[in-house]
Amino acid sequence: MKKDISKSLIMAPMPVLIIGTYDENGIPNAMNAAWGVQSDYEQITIFLGKHKTTDNLQINNGFTVAFATKETMIASDYFGMETGARINKIEKAGITATKSKHVNAPVFEEYPVTIECEIADMVEETDGYRLVGQVVNVIADEKVLDAKGNIDLGKMNILCYDSASHSYREIGNIVGQAFHAGLAIKNK
Ligand SMILES: Cc1cc2nc3c(=O)[nH]c(=O)nc-3n(C[C@H](O)[C@H](O)[C@H](O)COP(=O)(O)O)c2cc1C
Repeated sequence: MKKDISKSLIMAPMPVLIIGTYDENGIPNAMNAAWGVQSDYEQITIFLGKHKTTDNLQINNGFTVAFATKETMIASDYFGMETGARINKIEKAGITATKSKHVNAPVFEEYPVTIECEIADMVEETDGYRLVGQVVNVIADEKVLDAKGNIDLGKMNILCYDSASHSYREIGNIVGQAFHAGLAIKNK
């Protein structure tokens, strides 16, 4: 039997995105964001409160978005617990930041896949911002690519955020092919 369980919303799965920015002195910062989504073929939209990251985004047009993995889980969670306004989180977490070749933002070496973005829009809302990023490039470690050079999620232990239990989960196995599995009914 189904039950009403209040308005406490869960959306599943949510990503675990690590947004990389520079401050006015070129100090790299990283924050964790789960409220992000692909909003066009080459655009992503992320919903942000007011943070050191959003201060940095007022100064620099570029930012990076890396996918958290099982291997980077502890640093990724830490990036969501402390503000870069107070401390250099990258240094404290022992993460290696290098400058992106395409945008004015840091790339974190320990993360296998990173989206490099320029700000397409940053709309101030009541309690934060809606950040729209135009994708300029995607970089990936060779070890997470398949034979055709495409990203293989099965090779990168990518995490998702479970907002029901406030935990990180690994994504699971492929169970079917999109735009194909439904043919079993469509073609009946
Ligand atoms: C799992 C997780 C998900 C988060 N998702 C978001 C989010 O989508 N938007 C947001 O504004 N803050 C989010 N946060 C909180 C920020 O990451 C946090 O406030 C962080 O300290 C901001 O860092 P900064 O001040 O260095 O930019 C999340 C934190 C965690 C741990």
